[in-house]
Amino acid sequence: MYDFIRGPLVWVAFLVFIFGTAYQVYRFYQLSRPKERYRLRIPFGKPPKDPDEAPGEPTLTWWQQMRLSVVGVNPVMVSVTTLFHLALVLTPFFVLGHNVLLDLAWQISLPSLPEAVADGLTIVVIAGGVFFLLRRIFLARVRAISTVYDYVVLLIATTPFITGFLAYHHFFDYDTVILLHILAGEIMLMAVPFTKLVHMPYFFINRFVLVHENTLGAGGSRTWR
Ligand code: HEM
Ligand code: HEM
Repeated sequence: MYDFIRGPLVWVAFLVFIFGTAYQVYRFYQLSRPKERYRLRIPFGKPPKDPDEAPGEPTLTWWQQMRLSVVGVNPVMVSVTTLFHLALVLTPFFVLGHNVLLDLAWQISLPSLPEAVADGLTIVVIAGGVFFLLRRIFLARVRAISTVYDYVVLLIATTPFITGFLAYHHFFDYDTVILLHILAGEIMLMAVPFTKLVHMPYFFINRFVLVHENTLGAGGSRTWR
């Protein structure tokens, strides 16, 4: 069991993650078709002086539009989720422990962050997770749409960081904790294609490729079949 988790399962986890996620993206293209680009304007802007005049380009400044968007409406959530996601996605690549393992296996490695910085970023992820947890429990409108599934996914996303932190600080029995850490990391990777963690690619598909009233950027280029 011990050897399986530290050996073959690492491979299985990475392969499931890479090919599973790629398959989900492929499926999106199967289930969608090209559509002409257009930009559905949200009725930003001052009403035209002449009521018969068609609404033109938004007349609000970039900053005024920002204030009306989620950035202005919920700045705390936007700040926390940005820090949470940046730390979550970037830290694993630059953890010294990971790069040492890569170096031992294939004599390749990325630059490593100073250990104190990696540790700090790990705490950022854990703190973000605690924030999301409390938000789900105490905000009535979030609690109303939460199920066990949401808590399980939050746990799957944060346990690699909790156990990585415990291992680095040698809390509890190191060998057990590092094994749990590896297992937690593997579960997280394998969960991406099969749970709502698939939002990792689908966020970009939804916001930049699908045509709808909330598409960002140039306005999207595909629609569902
Ligand atoms: C799949 C195989 C994995 C292996 C073999 C592995 C192994 C390790 C090792 C050896 C350490 C160093 C612990 C120490 O310094 O004693 C570590 C730390 C860490 N790991 Fe992993 N890991 C894996 C997956 C992951 C994943 C998927 C994530 C996150 C998405 C992750 C996040 C971290 C973090 C954040 C730390 C540093 C904790 C800190 O410094 O506070 N690991 N890991
Ligand atoms: C790399 C591209 C990613 C993007 C653009 C992205 C974007 C988002 C967005 C827009 C949300 C919904 C609103 C919010 O909570 O901010 C969200 C939520 C969430 N994301 Fe990501 N995400 C990405 C990757 C990941 C990955 C790799 C994980 C974990 C493995 C993850 C874990 C989470 C979790 C746990 C939540 C829900 C927080 C809650 O319980 O409310 N995300 N993400």
